[in-house]
Amino acid sequence: MARKFFVGGNFKMNPNTVAEKKKLVELLNQADIDSLIEADLDLEVVVAPPSLYLLPLKDILRPEIQVAAQNCYFKDSGAFTGEISPAQLKDAAIPYVILGHSERRTLFHESSATVAQKTKAAIASSLSVILCIGETLQERETDQTTQVCSAQLQAVVDEISPDDWSKIVIAYEPVWAIGTGKVATSKQAQDTHADIRAFLAKAVSPAVAESIRIIYGGSVNKGNCGELGVQPDVDGFLVGGASLKPEFVDIINATR
Ligand code: G3H
Repeated sequence: MARKFFVGGNFKMNPNTVAEKKKLVELLNQADIDSLIEADLDLEVVVAPPSLYLLPLKDILRPEIQVAAQNCYFKDSGAFTGEISPAQLKDAAIPYVILGHSERRTLFHESSATVAQKTKAAIASSLSVILCIGETLQERETDQTTQVCSAQLQAVVDEISPDDWSKIVIAYEPVWAIGTGKVATSKQAQDTHADIRAFLAKAVSPAVAESIRIIYGGSVNKGNCGELGVQPDVDGFLVGGASLKPEFVDIINATR
């Protein structure tokens, strides 16, 4: 079965004002993308605002575009100041959560084991997970890309059941490409996505490897998305900076 193309917009800790948020929503609501989504052209679009804006944005955003949280904890409630729980996201009808983003792994010291625990908890609350993995520049330059991505995935393999992988979209995001303007070449992206699929075929099952969506993130823009998006193992994008600009609509449109 063909894999449904997925375009995610990770707003990160932006925008800074309610007015700017409204402008972004207007842009998406007015964009001519109905035909793509409604005609069932195998396209899914999801945006991830800061948690403060999740519910208000969901209320005013056109229904064809879904929303995602940028993080959640692995407990459902309790004394965990500053955290948001999978149960709360489920109750708020937020369908997706991003987990394991490199900014969480690096700046907030989340280990692969923690990311795996969070993934397990999110799936137990019926959330779908955009699971981010990726290597640093030093790791790529020392030929450790496959090993690093496999280890990050293995932690999740150890926590969830094979059936749970149907709730996951993997976002391959090389750390050196995030917010740097230095995008992976289409060959680098394709080769790494194929390696990820090969790992999953062995570690989980060939069926999961074939059906799971693996999207690319890291300096995606309207100029480079076309070539990346036609690679056989690239099933979409997780867009950061460009998702805050009108070109996000061009990225959505350019991919079909
Ligand atoms: O989650 C998105 C990625 O971190 C990519 O960010 O498009 O600004 O490089 P970027």
